[in-house]
Amino acid sequence: MEQQRYDLTGSLLNWYDYNKRILPWRENKDPYRIWISEIMLQQTRVEAVKPYFDRFMEELPTVKDLAEVEEDRLMKLWEGLGYYNRARNLKAAAQTIMEEYAGEVPADYEKLLGLKGIGVYTAGAIGSIAFDLQVPAVDGNVLRVLTRLWGDHSDILKEKTKKEIGRKIQPYIPEDRPGDFNQALIELGAIVCIPNGDPNCDLCPWDTVCKAYREDMIDELPVKTPKKARKKEYKTVFLLETDTMIALHKRNSKGLLAGLWEFPNISQKMDRKDIEDQLKKWNIQEINIEPAGKGKHIFSHIEWHMEGIRVHLEKNIPIEDFCWVKKKELENVYALPSAFEIFRKVL
Ligand code: ADE
Repeated sequence: MEQQRYDLTGSLLNWYDYNKRILPWRENKDPYRIWISEIMLQQTRVEAVKPYFDRFMEELPTVKDLAEVEEDRLMKLWEGLGYYNRARNLKAAAQTIMEEYAGEVPADYEKLLGLKGIGVYTAGAIGSIAFDLQVPAVDGNVLRVLTRLWGDHSDILKEKTKKEIGRKIQPYIPEDRPGDFNQALIELGAIVCIPNGDPNCDLCPWDTVCKAYREDMIDELPVKTPKKARKKEYKTVFLLETDTMIALHKRNSKGLLAGLWEFPNISQKMDRKDIEDQLKKWNIQEINIEPAGKGKHIFSHIEWHMEGIRVHLEKNIPIEDFCWVKKKELENVYALPSAFEIFRKVL
């Protein structure tokens, strides 16, 4: 069937009406909820976001609550989601909304774009879902669906491609249901035209018009040019502990995982002698040292290869830059990035 004569919009919305998932941020059109969900969904999968979203909404139900939240509390709510600056941007944007828009998320695409942390995709998602604006919201799911539909071999990692795809889908966005249309495209990408593995083309409302399906190009699309290899960093992570306490260090306020807590660590591989020398520098005489396992954590540009060392002390001694905290407080007071989770489990 010729694409031009096929009702792409109607068939997609019809499919969505029958197949959409029931999700907490789809309960109503509250722009605050939609905004928070969209930022969280940029971090991880829908199933993983749900508990974070519910907890966040329970603790910070309004823009005002977010604008006034303490940084450490916010980091704790975000703990495990990654890209912590996104959470800081949320708070900064909430403060702007309080000051400039009387606490109401603005129903205007350009104003949304002007808020910290809100880019073209997020402004499109909030604008269309919460305010029925006829604007596209092109994320990775949508790029996959549409490059396959149109048999488009452009590199989807390029900004230019995202813009071009947004421009091309614009005329299909219906006046009465722009938010449902955008969410339907995302949904199709998440559950039918899936990111890894074979898509479920037999369930697709567009199977008769999808160029990639009809011309056997599913495996070729979407096109992504390979990224540069990540830089590898080696770390020795120290679990300095007493029976009840553990030493933590607060990371620098700039750069990767800025301002979050971590177990003290040194950026190199260390043998037994290096470890003993390091402990001496901290005035620790302990010989009670045992391995605490290995961990690997992948960030967008760097990967950490970590080796843990557990050092048990009779009592805690002051060490410059470190802070002794109760082990129990790791649960609900101190935000520890996921990279260190495997070592927390050891304790
Ligand atoms: N991913 C990004 N936005 C989404 C939404 N509104 N629903 C489901 N998955 C999404």
